[in-house]
Amino acid sequence: MALVELNNVSKTLGNKKILDSISLTIEAGEVKIIMGPSGCGKTTLLRCLAKLDKPDSGDILFHQKNIHDKNFNTLEFRKKVGFVFQNYALYRHLNVTDNITLALRKVFNMSPARARDKALDELEKLGMAPHSKKYPSQLSGGQQQRVALSRALATDPEVIVFDEPTSALDPLMTCEVGSLIGSLHGRKVTILCVTHDVRLAEQLSDRVTFLNHGRIAAEGSFKQLSSSGSDADIRRFFGGE
Ligand SMILES: Nc1ncnc2c1ncn2[C@@H]1O[C@H](COP(=O)(O)OP(=O)(O)O)[C@@H](O)[C@H]1O
Ligand SMILES: [Mg+2]
Repeated sequence: MALVELNNVSKTLGNKKILDSISLTIEAGEVKIIMGPSGCGKTTLLRCLAKLDKPDSGDILFHQKNIHDKNFNTLEFRKKVGFVFQNYALYRHLNVTDNITLALRKVFNMSPARARDKALDELEKLGMAPHSKKYPSQLSGGQQQRVALSRALATDPEVIVFDEPTSALDPLMTCEVGSLIGSLHGRKVTILCVTHDVRLAEQLSDRVTFLNHGRIAAEGSFKQLSSSGSDADIRRFFGGE
C-alpha cells in the first residue's frame, strides 16, 4: 500500500504553473528519486508534500489520509516525516547536539537527558560524535549534511525527504553522502530524494522519475532515460547526446 500518494497536484505561483497535475506514489520501504533541472518544480513539490504549501488542486495522501482534511493530525504527520532541506537548515547559533535535541525536546517531549543520549547515539552512527560540541560554521559541508541527517534520523521517521542533499558538496563528498543515504535503507526508512545530481541519483536507485516543466516527463531506468527517444531535454540531462 502506498505510504504517500499525490493525485493530480497542481500549483501556480505568480502567473506560472509550477506543478502541472503531478501524480505519483511512494511505497513503504522504497527509495524514490525525482530528478529534474533547476527550476522544474522539485522544491515546490516537496513544500506541498511537507504541508508548508497548499496545492491549488489535487490531493496528497499520507497513509491514505488527505493531509488537508480537517481532522488530519498534522503534528503526528510532522513527527513521521523527516526533512533534510537544501543547505541543511541547521541553526547557526546552536551547537551540533542542540541542533538535534531541540525538536526531540520540544516536539517529542523527551527529557533533556534522553534527547542528549539519542542525539549522541545518532551522531555516533554517522561518525560525528567527536564534533558534537561544535557549531555549524566550524564544520565542512559534508559534516553539516551528516548533522542534518542525524537530526532527521533521531526522530525515527517513517520517511525522510531530501531536497538536493549534495548540491553544496564536491564529488567525493557527494559519493559519501550518497552511501549514507543508501545505508538508511537498512533501517527500513522510506526515502524520497529530489535532485538534479545524476551521479547521486544513479548511486541511490536504478529507477528515477523525471520532472520537467512541472510535469512528470518520464519514469524508468537510467539506461532507458538516457536513450529516451523523443525527448531532447531528457537525453541532454542524462548525457545521452
Ligand atoms: N514564491 C514563488 N513565487 C513565484 N515563483 C516561484 C516561487 N517559488 C518558486 N518559484 C518559481 O517556481 C519554479 C520552480 O521552483 P522550484 O520548485 O524551487 O524548482 P527546483 O527546486 O526544481 O529548482 C522556478 O521557476 C521558481 O522561480
Ligand atoms: Mg530546489
